[in-house]
Amino acid sequence: MPKNVFTQPEISQVKDLTLKLAKANKQLSNEHKIRNQMLANISHDLRAPMTAIRNAVDYLNTFEGEEMPSSEEFHSIIAMLDRRSTVLENLIQDLFYLTSLDNPSHRYSFERVNMKNFLKEYYIYLLEDSRFKTRKLEYLIGYDLEAFCSIDIDTFTRTLDNLFINAFKYSNEGDSIKLDAYIKRRKLVICIEDTGIGIAKEDVAKIFDRSYTVSNARTPESVTGSGLGLAIVKSIIEHHKGKVYCESELGVGSKFFIELPLIK
Ligand SMILES: Nc1ncnc2c1ncn2[C@@H]1O[C@H](COP(=O)(O)OP(=O)(O)O)[C@@H](O)[C@H]1O
Ligand SMILES: [Mg+2]
Repeated sequence: MPKNVFTQPEISQVKDLTLKLAKANKQLSNEHKIRNQMLANISHDLRAPMTAIRNAVDYLNTFEGEEMPSSEEFHSIIAMLDRRSTVLENLIQDLFYLTSLDNPSHRYSFERVNMKNFLKEYYIYLLEDSRFKTRKLEYLIGYDLEAFCSIDIDTFTRTLDNLFINAFKYSNEGDSIKLDAYIKRRKLVICIEDTGIGIAKEDVAKIFDRSYTVSNARTPESVTGSGLGLAIVKSIIEHHKGKVYCESELGVGSKFFIELPLIK
């Protein structure tokens, strides 16, 4: 048996492949960890409203015959059930949507879109949304913007919806919400800015994470989000070969930026 069966180039090739495999393995293991963390958080977020609903039903079941809770108590239980089931509904819907986006068979239907027209139409639709009547909406896009991008209209609209609904939820009556878009370094930059409650420095880096949910966010009491809205935004924008990031200051407001590649 000869001592060296493999040639030097073959040995380097094997070494190269081993390194690549180790790298892929590490990435898989990281993804696995993130998924487990996300599942743990979601189970927690599902359990809390479920327990509240279960307890309310058990409590109502203790009443027998003609005996009933007072009308005031009854209405407060119904309001709580309504709030808690909305939380559950939102969480389940967003979870389902996020999982479907990850599925390789999810069909994105990309088309060449004149972004100035698209964003203007979107803004007009916002103006008609009664929720935004209590905010100062501002349109800052220049009339001379000329930008074409390849977008999937359904998911891209969902991205804008999530960002504008956040701007609304995390701001107060009379606050401003602005839409701007411009070209920078051969990319289209879309900016959604609000003068709302802002985000603490240490949280800004975490808000796009799937494992970062309402339970550890500084979400106001009345807000019933799933905590997955920005993870959905990130997934969609990455499928568009773009980037999304946030600049924010607590008590001052937030700016969310989407960067998209331009096409001819
Ligand atoms: N415009 C904003 N202003 C202040 N905080 C925000 C804003 N958008 C998002 N956040 C913070 O980021 C967290 C994650 O946002 P998101 O993924 O949309 O979840 P959700 O809105 O369901 O809580 C929110 O819970 C909130 O704390
Ligand atoms: Mg949200």
